[in-house]
Amino acid sequence: MEENINREETAAPEQPLLRLDDLHTSFFTKQGVVRAVDGVSIDIPAGKTVGLVGESGCGKSMTAMSIMGLVSRPGKITGGSILFHGEDLLQLSPRARRQMCGDKISIIFQEPMTSLNPVMTVGTQVREAILTHRRDISKAQAREQVLDLFRQVGIPDPERRYASYPHQLSGGLRQRVMIAMAMACSPDLLIADEPTTALDVTIEAQILHLMRKLQRDHGTSILMITHNLGVVAEICDYVYVMYAGKVVEFAEVHELFRRPSHPYTQGLIRSLPSLEAPQGRLYNIKGMVPDLLHLPEGCRFAPRCERACPRCHGEVPPLYDIGGGHLVRCFLYDSGEAAPEEPADGAGREGGNT
Ligand SMILES: Nc1ncnc2c1ncn2[C@@H]1O[C@H](COP(=O)(O)OP(=O)(O)OP(=O)(O)O)[C@@H](O)[C@H]1O
Ligand code: SF4
Ligand SMILES: [Mg+2]
Repeated sequence: MEENINREETAAPEQPLLRLDDLHTSFFTKQGVVRAVDGVSIDIPAGKTVGLVGESGCGKSMTAMSIMGLVSRPGKITGGSILFHGEDLLQLSPRARRQMCGDKISIIFQEPMTSLNPVMTVGTQVREAILTHRRDISKAQAREQVLDLFRQVGIPDPERRYASYPHQLSGGLRQRVMIAMAMACSPDLLIADEPTTALDVTIEAQILHLMRKLQRDHGTSILMITHNLGVVAEICDYVYVMYAGKVVEFAEVHELFRRPSHPYTQGLIRSLPSLEAPQGRLYNIKGMVPDLLHLPEGCRFAPRCERACPRCHGEVPPLYDIGGGHLVRCFLYDSGEAAPEEPADGAGREGGNT
């Protein structure tokens, strides 16, 4: 079925720095084709933070890896475009692509230990990252820049930390080193893939605060990948909700929390612990994310959806614009009117944490 909106309507209001248009990335396995990213369109405006949220396995990291050109076999980008500064990264030679990504796009992963070299001091690693992109400065100048970056990201006693090995630092400090490394070449776009998931909440708050500050100071755009809607509320301007390889909802962040409209997004928000009733039973969306090798017919969320009707099991819903660019992939909005309220609290509860 054709989408009932045109591409222009899916754009955030500002001119995007990065535009993913109908991106497809699949894994060609012995068991079959896994469509990890299945027609994803995302805009990241300059200087803004865009959240990409969804449960485990829905394709968030593969979207990031596709942008970075890091999809490896048996994975392959099979369609769509990745426009960065108006240029399609998929049309560049591998060398030009690497150069573009290295200079203008940086990525931070969840676990810094996997990205840091364990046998090199963290200062030397960040210095080497700077020297790779800046041939015009000396080692001593690069060292000064590292120390300056370490101060900016709040690493105490930067001279001493410069000579530390990754294992000598706490998780929070290692993540700060990764952010310093990512900022070393002043990227236009920073992709953060679950950057705070491994950290405790106090350190998480500090890292999010730091990212907001860096964005303000440098005008960097951020793609914040997370399964945590609390992080989205804290830092994002716009949000894309992804489910089983597809975007199912897009809105400006306040609009999303004020009027969550896809039953999946509503479930995610109802699963958040409430400040008013912290002791209350937490809501769980029933069932599990489908195996991408055996996707259900029709709406991919239908087997878990409390509002599914026969049509949902036979047709794939398009994205509907429910006003002001708020997009929802759900037949409840087919009439062009806002869907009625979600079911009363308690319906469909499963298990439940206390
Ligand atoms: N090497 C691979 N071979 C086959 N399938 C893969 C491979 N890597 C990833 N996938 C599939 O791609 C899908 C999307 O994975 P992805 O890592 O993007 O999920 P995610 O949303 O980042 O999840 P998480 O929150 O757990 O990080 C998964 O369902 C996974 O099965
Ligand atoms: S299209 Fe149907 S099954 Fe899918 S989210 Fe909407 S109501 Fe639920
Ligand atoms: Mg991931």
